[in-house]
Amino acid sequence: MNTTLPGFFQGTEMPTAGWWEALWPDPVGVLTAVGMKPGMTVMDLCSGDGWFTLQIAKLARHVVAIDIDANLLDVARHRLAESGVTNCDFVAGNAYELTRLWPRPVDFVFLANAFHGVPDRERLVRSVHDALAPAGLFAVVNWHQRPREETTILGEPRGPRTELRMSPGQTIQAVEAGGLKLARVVEVPPYHYGAVFERLTS
Ligand SMILES: C[S@@+](CC[C@H](N)C(=O)[O-])C[C@H]1O[C@@H](n2cnc3c(N)ncnc32)[C@H](O)[C@@H]1O
Repeated sequence: MNTTLPGFFQGTEMPTAGWWEALWPDPVGVLTAVGMKPGMTVMDLCSGDGWFTLQIAKLARHVVAIDIDANLLDVARHRLAESGVTNCDFVAGNAYELTRLWPRPVDFVFLANAFHGVPDRERLVRSVHDALAPAGLFAVVNWHQRPREETTILGEPRGPRTELRMSPGQTIQAVEAGGLKLARVVEVPPYHYGAVFERLTS
């Protein structure tokens, strides 16, 4: 983990303890809930150590994992290789520059546990918009706007600082301001929601 990288989104460090696996015992259920379908081409944006990337790769035709931290991409690359998964590319770079990092349009962009830390959300959403094929989907999985003391996992408060957390309404407003249209909001228990947006065909 390297939070001194220029452009690193605040409060988006990958957890080091083993509680991530306890929080996300069913990553496939999360992907299905936000509308990811077999055969799609997917971008796992801010992919971290690949906990979701592995399951996306099993579902999708192809996935590109993008993260600013090349060391985390190495961890993810190792995780997928151990499982014999080969339909994934790994690209290090800033989420603001997606079409430069991956010029081929994708059907689905998945962004989990990072949107709360993005300083210029409109810029991020425009970057996602341009990375999507027409009618492509963008799913944002965020911590609910609850006090951090209440979101305990394995007996400890977890997740980003309370003041960084966003309500579904704030997320919808920020993403629609960047040019994508809300499709639906789903609950992702115990502490998250997923907001799914569509790129209009024009
Ligand atoms: C909390 S982790 C979540 C990882 C993964 N999405 C998950 O839910 O398991 C957030 C990730 O965002 C990455 N990140 C932070 N700033 C970024 C940026 N500007 N562009 C791309 N990735 C970034 C971090 O390196 C980290 O791996």
